Amino acid sequence: MEYLRKKTVLKIVLILCFVLTTCGILLVYLCPETICSFNLHADSQKYPSWRKIGLKHLMAENMGKPLSFLSLPSDSQISESGFKNKLSFDEMIKDDFEFDIKGSDVIVFLHIQKTGGTTFGKHLVRDLDLEKPCKCKRGQKKCKCYRPDSQAKYWLFSRYSTGWKCGLHADWTELTNCVDTAMDQTEKEEAKRRYFYITLLREPIARFLSEFRHVQRGATWKSSRHWCGGRVPTEEELPFCYRGDDWRGVTLEEFMNCPHNLAVNRQTRMLADLTLVGCYNNSVMSHRARDLLMLASAKENLKKMSYFGLCEYQKISQYLFESTFNLHFFQPFEQFNETHSSLIMNEIDIKDLRKIRELNHLDSELYKYAKELLLARFKRLKKDDPDFQEHFQNLGIKKYALK
Ligand SMILES: *[C@@H]1O[C@H](CO)[C@@H](O)[C@H](O)[C@H]1NC(C)=O
Ligand SMILES: *[C@@H]1O[C@H](CO)[C@@H](O)[C@H](O)[C@H]1NC(C)=O
Repeated sequence: MEYLRKKTVLKIVLILCFVLTTCGILLVYLCPETICSFNLHADSQKYPSWRKIGLKHLMAENMGKPLSFLSLPSDSQISESGFKNKLSFDEMIKDDFEFDIKGSDVIVFLHIQKTGGTTFGKHLVRDLDLEKPCKCKRGQKKCKCYRPDSQAKYWLFSRYSTGWKCGLHADWTELTNCVDTAMDQTEKEEAKRRYFYITLLREPIARFLSEFRHVQRGATWKSSRHWCGGRVPTEEELPFCYRGDDWRGVTLEEFMNCPHNLAVNRQTRMLADLTLVGCYNNSVMSHRARDLLMLASAKENLKKMSYFGLCEYQKISQYLFESTFNLHFFQPFEQFNETHSSLIMNEIDIKDLRKIRELNHLDSELYKYAKELLLARFKRLKKDDPDFQEHFQNLGIKKYALK
């Protein structure tokens, strides 16, 4: 009897030890940096964050399950712990939130080709009503967007501010891996910052056609790095679609038929965490699994962004930006009804159009999701804005402040 009791006590002690150790380990991983000083900032760069590990495991174990299941964790544990230095829309619209341009806040613009990002990028540097506007010199592409009380610290990470510091048209995978280090280098000082990721999306068929036209005119973006998983892809992993300098004069058929054409589902790929699918190595998993994971990841990342706009909804996109950041533009965003590609849309035959739609099925899904999310965010901000009518009518015309 006595012996048995001792054995039980020993067991309990052992179990307790185990539980405490596990808790200790978990705490190191889960606890926010602000509370736990042992979770050094630098470590989050070197090692994958627990968020990534969690998502990866969760997805691996649930391969083939519906997407709604895969996107669940974003709401529960993940955004609470791992994502503290990237602020989401939901965190931003809380009452006490403020974009602290004087402090440590940085807007990071993820610019996807042919989504209207150039115009928007110019609005960001030239057109915002700021205490200290960006300094733009004639004939120079880049402006200096310093914080109000500084001559060396930036609040905007984008092509027209810092330049392509993380590679030409860097995607989510490249930016999240690079921005912090790039900012340290630019400012010549290590600092803790809060990052606000923003992006624009566009209706996928129009975007694809627009990219096609652009490539036909000689654009290549061949200096994009496609950095992922600690390296650039090999030539076997990501072959060129053309020989020579560029793909000038390519026909639509050739453009659609190249299996490595990065234009296909570009928006999904550029928003997904590509380390989840083995980067550009297509033999890590089946095509179907790769597609599902990329789409789920792109949706999740989009939802976690502080802001995104849609090319087709300029006014709503402007209102959303202004309300989310409480920053205002001097000019209204223009809605162009007849862009390059909508003009040629009529010249493209139904069969090709169908093929473009099929090719870009991931982007179509993503865009549908984005549209619903955009309208939901709009509805929510509209509800909280007592002077909505006046604000919405006077976007970029008259100054207003949100209460
Ligand atoms: C791609 O993945 C396959 C399967 O995991 C692996 O055998 C191959 O070595 C990888 N290729 C490269 C270039 O890493
Ligand atoms: C686009 O179309 C809408 C309605 O069809 C019109 O009100 C608006 O003025 C047009 N915008 C431009 C820039 O042509």
